Amino acid sequence: MYARIAGTGSYLPSHVVTNADLERLVDTSDEWIRTRTGIRERRKAAEGETTGDLAFHAATAALQDAGVAPGEIDLIVLGTTTPDLVFPSTACLLQHRLGANGCAAFDVNAACSGFVYALGVADSFIRAGSARRALVVGSETLTRMVDWGDRSTCVLFGDGAGAVVLEAGDEPGILTTKLHADGGYKNLLYNPVGVSVGFRPGAENAGVSIRMSGNEVFKVAVRTLDRIVGETLEAAGMHESQVDWLIPHQANLRIIEATARRLGLPMERVIVTVDRHGNTSSGSVPLALDEAVRSGRVQRGQTLLLEAFGGGFTWASALIRY
Ligand code: ACO
Repeated sequence: MYARIAGTGSYLPSHVVTNADLERLVDTSDEWIRTRTGIRERRKAAEGETTGDLAFHAATAALQDAGVAPGEIDLIVLGTTTPDLVFPSTACLLQHRLGANGCAAFDVNAACSGFVYALGVADSFIRAGSARRALVVGSETLTRMVDWGDRSTCVLFGDGAGAVVLEAGDEPGILTTKLHADGGYKNLLYNPVGVSVGFRPGAENAGVSIRMSGNEVFKVAVRTLDRIVGETLEAAGMHESQVDWLIPHQANLRIIEATARRLGLPMERVIVTVDRHGNTSSGSVPLALDEAVRSGRVQRGQTLLLEAFGGGFTWASALIRY
């Protein structure tokens, strides 16, 4: 039994924040942001627009693309680190809004690797025969926990969501997924506030912001992604030359270029959205996938390599026959 992608969808909030907008907020420049990260603009959710709202639009588009009704879904796995509420999970809120009540639904928090983690979990359910149709979502409103006075982080992040519908079938499908984490790196990338640490009821957003040692994260990310793409191809018994498209997490164009070089892939075979989306964490890989499918670049039968790296540290990959 294999899981195959039956449909994709995505959603971006309408409000665009350009580098010029950020020049007015902090001591930065369009030139610095573009050369260090590749980012030109990012989206910001409207007041009151939530991770669950973004997820709903992306999921609706993916279900429509797959020709699957919400009632036919038996599993929802949603990657997010910016849930609407502490509980219920955003997956449960999404399930009810879609009208898929009754199926299993839960969130996965693996920071920027959230979608690829969720995909790995749903793939395992389908391979084990525990689910036949799964909705897998990555959705984030990261701009809600950005310190808009901190130039080293506020230029990097954006909001967005993507989703896929997986269906059980005899042919692959998802060829292999690899999920990893090393909690020893917590201090390089984290948010210091949680419900049982630092949370003060009534103090709006007190201390809730991203702390990142960017340069060190950068170096570990490049090394780690280099390793995981090799491990993934080896597990599937495949060679770099058999990959049609690299669909990477969109954190920094220089990290993406380093991974592409390792694979010997020209940038024409790499899906890049970081210039327009910034880093949308769990949203980034499914957003890039959906954009590539809808633009006609990714075609049925092609081989896709998805990878992500994020806070934890977590890192994950998926090799897919689309
Ligand atoms: N504008 C202008 N100058 C800036 C800005 C800015 N927005 N931000 C930092 N600088 C300055 C710094 O203060 C520093 O100045 P100094 O030399 O006078 O001290 C200088 O630029 C260089 O800073 P670095 O941090 O060394 O710059 P670097 O080239 O490493 O780029 C960046 C920083 C873009 C953050 C990069 O390190 C990066 O992309 N890191 C990885 C991020 C990532 O992948 N995160 C993982 C996913 S996120 C998640 O899981 C939630």
